[in-house]
This record gives sequence, structure tokens and C-alpha cells, in this order.
Amino acid sequence: MALLLAIESSCDETAVAILRGSKGEASQILASEVSSQIELHREFGGVVPELASRNHSLHLRPLVQQALVHANVGIEEIDAFAATTGPGLASSLLIGSTAAKAMACALEKPFLGINHLEGHLLSPFLGQTEVPPHIALIVSGGHTLLLDVEGAGSYRKLGGTRDDAAGEAYDKVGKMLGLPYPGGPEIEKIARTGNAQAYDFPRSMLHDPHLDFSFSGLKTAVLYTLQKETGEIPVADLAASFQQAVIEILVGKTLKAAKKTGRRIIALSGGVSLNLALRNAFQQACERSGIELAVASPTLCTDNAAMIAFAGLLRFLEGESSLLDADISPNLPLV
Ligand code: KG4
Ligand code: ZN
Repeated sequence: MALLLAIESSCDETAVAILRGSKGEASQILASEVSSQIELHREFGGVVPELASRNHSLHLRPLVQQALVHANVGIEEIDAFAATTGPGLASSLLIGSTAAKAMACALEKPFLGINHLEGHLLSPFLGQTEVPPHIALIVSGGHTLLLDVEGAGSYRKLGGTRDDAAGEAYDKVGKMLGLPYPGGPEIEKIARTGNAQAYDFPRSMLHDPHLDFSFSGLKTAVLYTLQKETGEIPVADLAASFQQAVIEILVGKTLKAAKKTGRRIIALSGGVSLNLALRNAFQQACERSGIELAVASPTLCTDNAAMIAFAGLLRFLEGESSLLDADISPNLPLV
């Protein structure tokens, strides 16, 4: 059995988790602490990097203490330390990775630098004994990525966004509609009362043979529609119609990827995968095609350290570690 402590600080959540696991067995989350800065950034309508990094450094130490208390373990019992080293905001990544390295160095334990996207990708399988071959769709604020996954550590990119990420489109459209930041959960909420057929927004690239995405045309279509409205803005109808277009694009492309590759499992991860309308649409489409759907539990969808700990633990159990002088990488690709 190995114990791993991981830190996630790539954007606006400071998170620490402790995971226990061994090869071939389901890992157990002993602690997963998240200190969200959403309220702090809300008044600016987006993440302010300087504020984010300052708050990471303020919250990290107490969060590590809290995680150790919740897990009921002493820091000397931790076998390895991991941290997100990219992609993300440079000044935010530096805080978490430096702290994890310092602990690893002081306790003479291995350090593992983890790709944030690998954390998201593996999150639907945390608590299971293996990562089966599958099609992974990562939909977050920064990324929309479609991958063919052979198993943990073996990924092939099938497609990605050519402009905005799905979550980014949600956040930008939310802003246009005058909704609070972040727009994703707000649009989901208000869309429940709207008519998804009210506006026929474009489903860009949906029928193209490749597996890339584009959301900027959809975003612009919402903007133009808004500008033409003279009376009261039908926010719920616009939100519902926008969301319907996003869902159809994501479901259509991902099912196409499963058909192309012959994979029988689709896994959804990242903040946008919290969206219930999206989950339901995937569930129905997968059932129709005889495909199994794997989704992360809600606390593992948005940024958290348990997913980083899981990715770290799988690598640690394979004998991997990173150099203590390995740098952070704001644009770190997954494949
Ligand atoms: O994975 P995440 O926490 O951070 C990144 O790595 O980006 O994802 C945050 C994104 C934001 O764009 C947010 O608006 C979106 O996930 N999001 C949602 C929902 N909850 C969060 N989008 C649609 N529906 C939701 N319920
Ligand atoms: Zn994320």
C-alpha cells in the first residue's frame, strides 16, 4: 500500500488530496480538500492570475494540514508527493509544484509532476481497479479534447477545439447574457426554464469527417442574435438553445470517435461534464449504441487534487518519478 499526497493549483482552486492504493486495487481517497476562489474572482468576471497565486500561497499550508488531519496520517507516512505542473497559469502552477517539491525534498521522498489533463481524463475511473480502453472526452474551462485511451499512460489524440473550449464558450455566453461567473452552471440552471428549439444556432463542424471542435461561431451567433433583440432579452431561451447546440456537437463527435475506433466505453471528465443535460444526452446516445458511459462523481469533475493524486499514484506504482528541477509548463500538452 502506498500513500500519496497531491496538490492542484493550476487555476483558481487550491486543492490537496491524500490517496491510498496499490497495484491492481481500487484506490481510496483519504482526504480531498478544495479551497475555491470563485467568489474572489467573480467581481472581475474571470480569473485574475495575480490574485489566484497569492491566494494559493495563503491557503496551501493550512489545506495540507487539514488533509493530513482528515486522512489521519502523519506527513512522514506519505510515500510520494505530486503536483500539477501544467497546463495552467504559470504563477499558480509554481505555488503548488514548489510546495510539493519542498515536502518531497525535506522528507526524501519522490516527487511526481502531473499533467492536469491526465488528472481529468483518469477521474471517471478513480475507485475502480483498472483504467479500461475507452474514448475520453475532456470538457473543461480550458480544454475540449477527444482521446483514444488504451489504458493509463497510453493516449492518442483524436480531436480538440480549434478555438474556444466548451467551458470557455459557456463562460463567454454567460457573460453576454449578464449571468454571474462562471457561466457554465448558471446557463445550465436558467436553460431548464427555456425552449431549446427557440433558436437554431450553428453546430459547427458536426458533420465534418474529422474529430475537431469549434465553438467560436456558436458564440458569435449568440452575440448577433442578442444584438438584434429589441425587447426584453429571452435569456432562458438563448441559454437553452446555446446549450442544445453544445450538447449535440459534443455527443455527435464523441459517438463518431467511438464508432471510428470500435471502443465500447466513453468517459466524460472536466467541469462541463457536471452538466446534467449533457450527461443525460450522452446516457441516451450511449444506450442507443450499446456503449457504456463512465462519468466522474461530481466532486471530481471540477478541479480537485484527488484526480492529480490518482494520476500520480498510478505513475508512482509503475516506478516513475520526476526530477526536482523539472519546470512547470503552462502549455503542457497531454499527447
Ligand atoms: O475542469 P474545470 O473545473 O477547470 C478547468 O480545468 O478549466 O472546469 C471549469 C469549467 C468552467 O468553464 C465552468 O463554466 C464549467 O466548467 N462548468 C460547467 C458546469 N459546471 C462547471 N459548464 C456547464 N454546465 C455546468 N453545470
Ligand atoms: Zn481542470
